[in-house]
Amino acid sequence: MNRLLNSIIENNRKWTKEGQVASYIPELSKVDSNLLGICISTLGGEEHCAGDSDTKFTIQSISKIVTLMLAILDNGKDYVFSKVGMEPTDTSFNSIVNLEIKDAHKPINPMINAGAIATVSMIAGKDSEEVFERILKFTRKISNNPNIGINDSVYKSEKETGDRNRALAYFMKGTGVLDGNVEEILNVYFKQCSIEVTCRDLARIGAMLANDGIMPWSGERVVPRDVARIVKTIMVTCGMYDASGKFAVQIGVPAKSGVGGGILACVPRRMGVAVLGPALDEKGNSLAGIKVMEELSKQLDLSIF
Ligand code: DON
Repeated sequence: MNRLLNSIIENNRKWTKEGQVASYIPELSKVDSNLLGICISTLGGEEHCAGDSDTKFTIQSISKIVTLMLAILDNGKDYVFSKVGMEPTDTSFNSIVNLEIKDAHKPINPMINAGAIATVSMIAGKDSEEVFERILKFTRKISNNPNIGINDSVYKSEKETGDRNRALAYFMKGTGVLDGNVEEILNVYFKQCSIEVTCRDLARIGAMLANDGIMPWSGERVVPRDVARIVKTIMVTCGMYDASGKFAVQIGVPAKSGVGGGILACVPRRMGVAVLGPALDEKGNSLAGIKVMEELSKQLDLSIF
């Protein structure tokens, strides 16, 4: 397995020269675009990694699956999906257009920014600090890494330049989708995006989902089977934004990307997989990361379809 992963990384290194690192958050533009890493975490507890698998990067939108799990655990799925839809979209992750024209102003799904901001507003806590602490604690638990923290410079950069997210949030407050203090909710969202992880951490989260909510390393259940099922389904239909259909056809597993260059994937009843490749395609997904996933899926026959 290690040999296979090493050769997949070497075969696809050329793709790191294509695409662009995210620059709309200034701090992200400083990330090394040559990085390429992969880690898989099997349900039998084995871990195999290659390339830059232990390099830290910000989780970004991959955190949206963590906050979706917590919001459902706190409120139940019926309440969460009364506020946020579950349909895929052909608009970009930070688009505002559907908030005005669709279904009672409800954000179209929890993986786009508007939906993720609405989702985080539903997480329980006496104040925004406690809400973020719960997100961080849960992330540490499901990745079996108690040392996970945030990248402070990315967090500050997100906060300074997050005007599109502010626009989405204030619009949702105006239409009654969002309750509470908008700046506090956004602060949690900016922090959750700035959580620093490695491929190894994300592969373990993928393994927990692949194992229907039970962490393979301890046998402990962290989310009910039904919640794991919902999250994986939303990952298939919405996890790669308006490229989710192509990803499902070509790779065929639930996955979630982030503009930090990470992709978390899970292969039900087999393994969690995470890749890092910071140069992004025009949809905001890791360009080389998708190539790596494509080759891995072919070699190991991973498609669930
Ligand atoms: O909201 C933002 O702009 C980012 N912090 C997270 C977005 C993201 O990762 C979109 N992903 N491809």
